[in-house]
Amino acid sequence: MANQSLTKNVLKKATIGIIVGVILVVVAQQTHFPQIFQIMFFIYAMLGTVVFILLDAPPMKRLEGVKAVGALLAFYILLSGMYVAGASILPQFDPTIEADKITKVLKRQKAASEQGKADELIARTKALDERAKAISKQLASLGGAAKVEVVEETGGGGGAASGDLLALGKEQWELQECYNCHKLFGSGGKKRGPVLDNIGSLMTPEALRDKILNPKSWMAEGFDKQYKKGKMPDKYRDLMFEEEIVALVAFLASLKDTSVETPKPIKMN
Ligand code: HEC
Repeated sequence: MANQSLTKNVLKKATIGIIVGVILVVVAQQTHFPQIFQIMFFIYAMLGTVVFILLDAPPMKRLEGVKAVGALLAFYILLSGMYVAGASILPQFDPTIEADKITKVLKRQKAASEQGKADELIARTKALDERAKAISKQLASLGGAAKVEVVEETGGGGGAASGDLLALGKEQWELQECYNCHKLFGSGGKKRGPVLDNIGSLMTPEALRDKILNPKSWMAEGFDKQYKKGKMPDKYRDLMFEEEIVALVAFLASLKDTSVETPKPIKMN
């Protein structure tokens, strides 16, 4: 009779335990816990169920002396063994794998944001370029002379678009440190390259672009020695983005101060 009610009790508690375990797993799934956690939650529910059932077990015989110490040790070893075995059966957390995953995600995000920045710059430059073209077309329709003036008048009547491009170009002049060797607007040129105040009258935008990307393509008259020594750095095609080159060329092409004597460029190769 007592045995029967004991089995009934065990079944009842086991059923409750399993139901609780399943509910935990479902809730964990809904809240997007990783699978390993879902398994852990179920195992905890089962362990709880075992303790719950053990409460009904008949009391053990009282142990004393060496026997009591031995039983305590056995219990300790059993529990430790269960913990160690359980932990090694479960899927392992490997920090290097997790770190790899994180770097992969970050790399993709970084690449995406860098691409985004580059795209934004290109789009901005394109828009500026289009506006500049539209304005110079408009001015050209007003007469040939006006077209020359728009390049000369930086930021003035040329409108915001060409002004912005020229400002970007001037910024490149500073950032790429062209002023170290070239005197412009009366300053710079410590390393004695040619003065460039009137270079826009002497070189076409295409020629200026060639000179920046490939310094051997043109030589400033009277600078044979420096040309042969390759004084002008051959690094801008690697350092500069397309939109930066476009802006710098536009800036140089706008330099048309005929009152400053600027060495004549000679086409080399
Ligand atoms: C380390 C010194 C140095 C730097 C920096 C330098 N240049 Fe030059 N550049 C020279 C020298 C020297 C010459 C003349 C010899 C030659 O043509 O190669 C020259 C020639 C030129 C010419 C032809 C000038 C003429 O009158 O024919 C242009 C245009 C020019 N540089 C533009 C630039 C621009 C734009 C930059 C910056 C992106 C720059 N340079 C940076 C040394 C430099």
